[in-house]
Amino acid sequence: MSESSAEIEVLGTSPGEADVERLVDLVLETVRSDAAIGFLETATRADVRAYWRGVLAAAHPNTLLFVARRGAAIVGTVQVQPARAQNQPHRAEIAKLMVHPTARRTGLGRALMEAAEAGARRIGLTLITLDTRAGDTAENLYQSLGWTRLGSIPDYALDPDGRTLHGTAVYYKLLERDVG
Ligand SMILES: CC(C)(COP(=O)(O)OP(=O)(O)OC[C@H]1O[C@@H](n2cnc3c(N)ncnc32)[C@H](O)[C@@H]1OP(=O)(O)O)[C@@H](O)C(=O)NCCC(=O)NCCS
Repeated sequence: MSESSAEIEVLGTSPGEADVERLVDLVLETVRSDAAIGFLETATRADVRAYWRGVLAAAHPNTLLFVARRGAAIVGTVQVQPARAQNQPHRAEIAKLMVHPTARRTGLGRALMEAAEAGARRIGLTLITLDTRAGDTAENLYQSLGWTRLGSIPDYALDPDGRTLHGTAVYYKLLERDVG
């Protein structure tokens, strides 16, 4: 898939050092753009590297880590994180969707979400869930892709400035079984 000369690929859960550092760069730039993706603006390179190392080390065998690449650079990412509960083999969380601030509004966010949904279908999942800061532009994207908004939980997390609490909006999407 190609969006404005970026290619979407599955990175796998054992990337090389250089790609881990590219993912660290992407998170740091995204947080600097005031995005609510789990970090405060005081997050260090080491904090973010520890996050990626933890995600990769603990990944469910069916985890799908997508990246959007322009040349060698990683300009976007999203994860399909299958549920671990024994009674939820059909469900995954869509996590950490982000596009580098200089690469936004060119269709990459949509392409990453479409890749994540297709990947989830391909591995036999029928329910995907996510949450996002209430009122963020990502809500337009999810709704345009047919996600259902359940509601929002107030005061869920801090903005990157570490001072203001924001609500989180909770979404789900039922997937048709992929018979192809
Ligand atoms: C949300 C995000 C991933 C969208 O990435 P993107 O590449 O800019 O998105 P696209 O260009 O594919 O746009 C997809 C849709 O998102 C919505 N959208 C994206 N940016 C928007 C903006 N600034 N204002 C309004 N709607 C916007 C629109 O519905 C758009 O569809 P359209 O172009 O047909 O109008 C990006 O803004 C981002 O990384 N934000 C910070 C991290 C974040 O909030 N992640 C999500 C929750 S963890």
